[in-house]
Amino acid sequence: MNNTDNTLFEPYTLGDLELPNRIVMAPLTRARASQPGDIPSDMNARYYAQRASAGLIISEATQVSQQGQGYAYTPGIYTPEQVAGWRKVTDAVHDAGGRMHAQLWHVGRISHPQLQPNGDLPVAPSALKPEGSQVFISAESGMVDIPTPRALEADELPDIAEQFRRGAENAREAGFDGIQIHAANGYLLDQFIKSGTNHRTDEYGGSVENRLRFLMMVVEAVKQVWPTSRIGIRVSPTGSFGSIYDDDPLSTFRALARKVQQAGLAYIEVVEDSFQGNHENGRPESVIEAIREEFSGSYIGNGAYSRDEAIERINGGRCDLASFGRPIIANPDLVERFSRNAALNEWDHSTFYGGDERGYTDYPTLEETQ
Ligand code: FNR
Repeated sequence: MNNTDNTLFEPYTLGDLELPNRIVMAPLTRARASQPGDIPSDMNARYYAQRASAGLIISEATQVSQQGQGYAYTPGIYTPEQVAGWRKVTDAVHDAGGRMHAQLWHVGRISHPQLQPNGDLPVAPSALKPEGSQVFISAESGMVDIPTPRALEADELPDIAEQFRRGAENAREAGFDGIQIHAANGYLLDQFIKSGTNHRTDEYGGSVENRLRFLMMVVEAVKQVWPTSRIGIRVSPTGSFGSIYDDDPLSTFRALARKVQQAGLAYIEVVEDSFQGNHENGRPESVIEAIREEFSGSYIGNGAYSRDEAIERINGGRCDLASFGRPIIANPDLVERFSRNAALNEWDHSTFYGGDERGYTDYPTLEETQ
């Protein structure tokens, strides 16, 4: 591998958006929206603006409805107050020279009645309990077990696609440069895609074609608002976060990539294994290859990438861009550090979710450490 290769640091056109480099800030839930109302705040705006040198920022997952919420203090994108809060964030990012997509989120079964409208049960493709998964519902209750969800009726699905469409519209009003559909990490869309969580016998379950039907309904809904050049999708073909699995990720995600190709979306971001980049067995190369074969748009690789592995995989054509999660939490100036091959700050896991400026906006830049 050639450490002097500059591809990672060269401009790249994503859809029709000009990025100054190929380093993407991965979507990162930080559970610091202001309360009540799950509204993005000035503090959130500062945090994102600090990271504006990334080629593209993808926002933390933002729920498209109250039903789509699964954890306390995550921001929403369905009330006027939330939209105004996001506008402060995108203004701060743009003023700092950055670009930002909103990650649109519905958690499906990964929730709890305490977070749901009217204390209802969370919803899912099938009434299957996510064994072993928990959610954080409040400072008082902390992490709690998830109940068995209610299976959605087929005639409720257009309403949820409409929640995504409104989220897309609100993202435009809030000044985002585009949107990412969150179809990864065991949440609602992933629950429909994967055979382990989708036991439906109607046209939304069974065959791969059927399991992809709801996702494509959501894609069509957001296409009413955004040109395809500004729409991406995130998937995690072999991830198990959220107690999820698929019997045949290779076939499922080959078919998905083909559909996303037909729909003309700008990019697919792939979590190349588990939620926190754990890939003892290596990256799922055959699945990655299948997606690359079927999809001619941009491919963003994610999951425990180092600077050097990003350079190597981009140069080798395995991905077009690389996204970074934990490293950019701890290094607001990640691009600068990577370009100088400088040392990185370590992340503090204890401040990932919830809290104040500590472990959020107070990680020093290289300049500040020197
Ligand atoms: C995440 N991840 C994540 N993924 C996603 O699609 N939406 C989200 O909101 C979040 N939130 C989130 C919060 C925190 C604190 C972590 C650590 C992770 C997953 C994340 O985007 C990424 O896939 C993993 O962190 C692996 O990449 P890194 O950290 O190894 O670069």
